Amino acid sequence: MSASDGAVTTGTGSAIPTAPEHPVEYRRVYVWELPVRAYHWINAIALVLLCFTGYLIGAPIRAFYASEAYQQYWFGWVRFIHFVAAFVYVFNFLGRLYWGFVGNKYAKWTAFFPLKRAQQQEIVDVIKADVLETKMHGPISTGHNALAGMIYFFTFLAFVFQTVTGFALYSSMSNSWLPRMFVWIVPLMGGEFGVRFWHHLFLWFFVTFVIVHIYLAFYHDYIEGRGTVSSIIGGWKFDREKSDK
Ligand code: HEM
Ligand code: HEM
Repeated sequence: MSASDGAVTTGTGSAIPTAPEHPVEYRRVYVWELPVRAYHWINAIALVLLCFTGYLIGAPIRAFYASEAYQQYWFGWVRFIHFVAAFVYVFNFLGRLYWGFVGNKYAKWTAFFPLKRAQQQEIVDVIKADVLETKMHGPISTGHNALAGMIYFFTFLAFVFQTVTGFALYSSMSNSWLPRMFVWIVPLMGGEFGVRFWHHLFLWFFVTFVIVHIYLAFYHDYIEGRGTVSSIIGGWKFDREKSDK
């Protein structure tokens, strides 16, 4: 069936042909408030910078230069960008934690823990529909679906881990009170090598997360047809009257 047949696609699951005289009702819902969107994009930019510069710190480019090492500063810039991005990323994350207590219901910390029976059921449903493809989509959450929320929670834990190990590494190069608070982490993790190893390993967690996350954002945008991608820019999603949760 083509669009010229008058088929109307609905917001849930596959394209379901509907008679044109019975259009599906959508309403516009303000889901992601400005602080959530600002957090999202500041975090995305900081994280990409941290991944690139962190990778370069761990595997510096071996290049031949006409000038002496002390006459150039490119590696200094790489480290400088890593440290600036690190501070932006940490304080931005603290802002998001605060918003988890005062923001709207879609931003609340409860959206990240599947404590309710309905959330646990949704995790099973999303795995069946999106991963195993053994079930059609049922009603779809307006905010994060319960599985996405839980994955974000694990990501937030990884944010904390990377912050702790990052500041532990930084503590040997700074006298500032903030990094100095993490000095004790270094012996706890078996010395600087141990901290560096774990800090480096988690780079690959973030690289994997970003690739899968961007793929899923576009996948859900296409499958659900209710403006998932644009919602994280403008804040609004479109929802079928009966699918709000
Ligand atoms: C998700 C965020 C982050 C990622 C992906 C990341 C990644 C990396 C990587 C891959 C390295 C190189 C490790 C090695 O193989 O030697 C590194 C080094 C480092 N990172 Fe991070 N990092 C992140 C966040 C942070 C934070 C929040 C801080 C806090 C200040 C930080 C501070 C440092 C320091 C001090 C070094 C060592 C620099 C040097 O020895 O020259 N990082 N980072
Ligand atoms: C480095 C890149 C990125 C990172 C680290 C990242 C991380 C995150 C995180 C942590 C959240 C949860 C937000 C919250 O509730 O506070 C989120 C949500 C979201 N992100 Fe990203 N993001 C990245 C890039 C992108 C891009 C490029 C897009 C779109 C093209 C996108 C689309 C979305 C959407 C639509 C949501 C809300 C959807 C949902 O899961 O319910 N993200 N992202």
